[in-house]
Amino acid sequence: MSSRIVGNHHITLSTGGAQEDWDFHTQALGLRPVKKTMLYDGAEPVYHLYYANADIDAGSILTSFPMRQQGKMGRRGSNQIKEIGLSIDVGSIDYWANRLDQLRFATEHTEALGTKRLRFAHPCGIPYTLVGTSGDNRRGYGEGGVPSEHGIKGAYASVISVIDPDEMVMYLETGLEAKKVDEDGPQQAFEVAGGFGGRVEIVHEPELRPGTWHFAEGTPHHWAWDVTDEDNQMGLKGFIEGLGYTDVTEQKDRGYFLSCYNRTPGGALFEYAFTPADRGFLIDEPEDQLGTTVQIPPPFAHLAQEMLDYLEPIEDHR
Ligand SMILES: [Fe+2]
Repeated sequence: MSSRIVGNHHITLSTGGAQEDWDFHTQALGLRPVKKTMLYDGAEPVYHLYYANADIDAGSILTSFPMRQQGKMGRRGSNQIKEIGLSIDVGSIDYWANRLDQLRFATEHTEALGTKRLRFAHPCGIPYTLVGTSGDNRRGYGEGGVPSEHGIKGAYASVISVIDPDEMVMYLETGLEAKKVDEDGPQQAFEVAGGFGGRVEIVHEPELRPGTWHFAEGTPHHWAWDVTDEDNQMGLKGFIEGLGYTDVTEQKDRGYFLSCYNRTPGGALFEYAFTPADRGFLIDEPEDQLGTTVQIPPPFAHLAQEMLDYLEPIEDHR
């Protein structure tokens, strides 16, 4: 397992409409609203929406860029993150099957790599998988219409589709010190870090056309790992670069945390992030008001009104 990564930090998706995304995560999935802010990259304003479990644990944070207003459609495919694996108690699978059925989401019961799973999709098409687990002590939110005991606890695994697994396996094993823990036909599972959310599952899909990498509706964008501090982040960046993967980005200031990115040889974008003690989601709004008003990132403060006028409004329907 990695000596520098402790688990997942957050997951980021390029989704469809902003209201649709907000309602899906806060109502259908019952996640805790955490932040409405903006994407730091690009020329046109795009929301960056954050959701989490009860305690906003690192590794429970799901974030989205609603791209529909920009009209950029993506293509899901290989060499891309394929599914978002989230942990729920194994006893809650039937609860979720009934809930999603009532909400008119199509679901599929599956069993893979030793776990029972329930598959469905975000309204923009991104596959989500609720993975039945035992002993995950992270707390479901409980105030979003889903009782806490059934709530989504946080990340379980990044499921990545690859045309050829070998280069990705080498990256995981040498770059991230990952350990292979399971295999079943075209699927292989690796532990990058211990605990829930430290896992990568590779699916070999040689016939599948590669998916899009740009910010575009309907595609997972990246999986962020928690490297805990700057020493680990810079150490990992130097180590990965020293193996020949020289395209690890410089550190980028994401307001709430600090990040480096690397396009892995399996095509999925990984982020290596940490939240310094003086950052986090309480730097711009108090805990009891998280996610209630749009937070303009400081670099765009002079464009605040212009951005707010441009973006579609988001109402809280809970
Ligand atoms: Fe990120």
